[in-house]
Amino acid sequence: MKIKKTQVCIIGSGPAGLLLSQLLHNEGIDSIILDRQTRERIEARIRAGVLETGTVEALEEAGVGDRLHAEGLPHSGFDLSFNGDHHRIDIAGLTGKQVMVYGQTEVTKDLIKRRLAQGCEIIFSVNNVEPHDVIQAKPKVRYTKDGETVEIECDFIAGCDGFHGVARQAIPADILKTYERVYPFGWLGVLTERPPVAEELIYAHHERGFALCSMRSKTRSRYYIQCAAEDDVADWSDDRFWDELVIRIGEDTAKHLLRGPSFEKSIAPLRSFVAEPMRYGNLFLAGDAAHIVPPTGAKGLNLAVSDVRILSRALIDFYKNRNATYLENYSATCLRRVWKAERFSWFMSTMLHQFPDFSPFEKKMQRAEFDHIAGSETASRSLAENYAGLPLE
Ligand code: APR
Ligand code: PHB
Repeated sequence: MKIKKTQVCIIGSGPAGLLLSQLLHNEGIDSIILDRQTRERIEARIRAGVLETGTVEALEEAGVGDRLHAEGLPHSGFDLSFNGDHHRIDIAGLTGKQVMVYGQTEVTKDLIKRRLAQGCEIIFSVNNVEPHDVIQAKPKVRYTKDGETVEIECDFIAGCDGFHGVARQAIPADILKTYERVYPFGWLGVLTERPPVAEELIYAHHERGFALCSMRSKTRSRYYIQCAAEDDVADWSDDRFWDELVIRIGEDTAKHLLRGPSFEKSIAPLRSFVAEPMRYGNLFLAGDAAHIVPPTGAKGLNLAVSDVRILSRALIDFYKNRNATYLENYSATCLRRVWKAERFSWFMSTMLHQFPDFSPFEKKMQRAEFDHIAGSETASRSLAENYAGLPLE
């Protein structure tokens, strides 16, 4: 069996794994990244696109801030719409911060390009990845590629392999505790090469279901409508999608809508999920490998980045100062922030979507949540602070 050695073996070449590798490299710490997918498949994934200030700072530190600032769109607020009533959340006025609209697809492309340019070993299209000896001083990761079995000897394993990855499974069932809420609907998303319907994002509650108007640039728009979890995307023609979106965002907004052919159309399920602990021996989980949020709060990528900022600080302090305190506190530090983001994403999802089993009272509570936010600067500020990004710890 072929043997490789590195300091940190990273499973997963998504935003979490790539950013971790870059931040470690900046401090002279070596890593190898493994991914079961091809580079092309990874770079073709369509994901959300709202970056918190902390995420922007981390990407600048990683040396991939140039295109982000050249092509990203700084946003100072967004619109909440509830059965035709509107309330703008003034992020800048309430928090002094902005968010950056820049597709996660582009973040991933920028990170892969930089990592490869700096000679990072990213091994794509691997199979049978298996963490071993994770509680030993020298854990190992085995994988196969082109029929050959390889073993990587390392000091630490970073499980950045997403919700469907293998790293979380290396934590014994009697230690791992998971928490989950699966939502009774999905999001049907569309990308179209048309200017967005409005300058800022619109999150709309409507009796027929939720809708979101977002964007990737001034010429490329991203729209979502709530649909049945079991819907087949083949049943949603472009015309059916646009007609439904117009109803849910209302005529006043829709008169600015430029319909166009969709060049990406897909349905995504919604779930809240957390796995505890995020560390087991020398295995550390980061990003979707440890938690999932419904996209209503735009937290998925931002949570992955905050995990990585905490993990990279811990690993750097260990290698530079032989101080293991941050490593020992990693899981608790991350989970404090993860659960707050889970709460916010769950809150936004509960307020804005149609739930088939909601009683008339619960529907009244949805409206009351909106009215409370619209009528209280304190409530609006709380929402704005969560959306713009809570402190790292
Ligand atoms: N072996 C090797 N690689 C794997 C395995 C495996 N067994 N399982 C999954 N992977 C790879 C996937 O191919 C993917 O490229 O791990 C990577 C995980 O990347 P993401 O799913 O993007 O997760 P993360 O880096 O944590 O980023 C979280 O991505 O999915 C969105 O909404 C999510 O915005 C959030 C962000
Ligand atoms: C997106 O642009 O894809 C997007 C934006 C905000 C969200 C979710 C998705 O809350």
